[in-house]
Amino acid sequence: MLVLGIESSCDETAAAVVADGVRILSSVVASQVLTHAKYGGVVPELASREHLRKIVPVVDEACRRAGVSLSQIEALAVTEGPGLIGSLLVGLVYGKALARSLGKPLVGVNHLEGHIHAVLLENQMARHGRKDVEEARLPAVTLVVSGGHTSLFRVEVRPLARNGNIPTFVYCCLGRTRDDAAGEAFDKVAKLLALGYPGGPVIDGLARLGNPQALDFGRIRMKGNPLDFSFSGLKTAVLYRVRGTPLAVEAEARRTWRKTADQMIREELCAHCSPATLDLLASFQHAVVRDLVERTLAAAESEGVETLFVSGGVACNSLLRERFAEAASERRFHIFFPSPDLSTDNAAMIAATGYYKLQAGERADVSLTGHASFPLGDATA
Ligand code: KG4
Ligand code: ZN
Repeated sequence: MLVLGIESSCDETAAAVVADGVRILSSVVASQVLTHAKYGGVVPELASREHLRKIVPVVDEACRRAGVSLSQIEALAVTEGPGLIGSLLVGLVYGKALARSLGKPLVGVNHLEGHIHAVLLENQMARHGRKDVEEARLPAVTLVVSGGHTSLFRVEVRPLARNGNIPTFVYCCLGRTRDDAAGEAFDKVAKLLALGYPGGPVIDGLARLGNPQALDFGRIRMKGNPLDFSFSGLKTAVLYRVRGTPLAVEAEARRTWRKTADQMIREELCAHCSPATLDLLASFQHAVVRDLVERTLAAAESEGVETLFVSGGVACNSLLRERFAEAASERRFHIFFPSPDLSTDNAAMIAATGYYKLQAGERADVSLTGHASFPLGDATA
């Protein structure tokens, strides 16, 4: 079954063609980074307009790269939430219209479920025809960590009673951020220090040059559910370390320099960062990563599972991957990350998730609409 996936929940317009939920024939992502960079974060109204401009060419390009025509597509899967409502509606309305005009079935997909499926999709692709690649077995504890989300889920699979071949994925949300997402904290700290947008990849590179022990931000304490996250206090702690100090003067100088620099080249950015700034970044990143790793391991231990998945844009972070890999090998967990292209927002993960829903007989009708907040696996959902 050829499924066309469409993703437009935030600032990437993406389309992909995936065969049988396991083979990516194409995956096209049009990034809006340049549109939002000067604001240091995503501007919702601009994001919707960019999606409107890009959605048709991106879908066409996904079909072209897959070598299929729209009429060969057998079903469509579209992100229905969570995300920016104006952005979501662009993908949804286009997907509904396309499905209707082609006479093909359509399903709505939860973006967070898509991030979890990115791990399974890539693992199935890697294992195709190879015996040496470890299988990502469920049940697993999954950390979805991005610019919009930081959540822990238990994921398990149950065969459908009426057709044992079709798995049903069952999610239980174990914890989530109560304020900022981890990626948002990276982006806001980068904005404070005039390092550019998105902040995660920039801080990842610069933090390597600093001392992570230079500043002790302490552990983030949570009242109530110990598997919830909170990064706004840490972000404020960074602000207090900067405000009224030479670091703030340095950040202002960098802001002025960046306005005149045509292109942000990392080596040049390094030259505009003092050792004290690099130490601050390294210490901040260390605190975020330690918190993510510790809570995820605690979740896996309390759930009694042996498999960990880490997905979402922040899963690209090099220190995070290193620390998770070390902790997993010490405590004998099996850990899986998608490659960077499948960690960040993409439509292949939406098509792959949609495939299972379609196989299970799920169909959306014209009432399908976007949900800014769209919980996955909540007891109350
Ligand atoms: O999954 P994604 O593309 O979009 C959302 O669903 O939010 O994630 C984007 C987020 C941004 O906040 C970005 O700064 C962060 O992922 N990110 C990183 C890295 N690469 C991307 N954060 C830390 N280290 C990285 N290497
Ligand atoms: Zn995402």
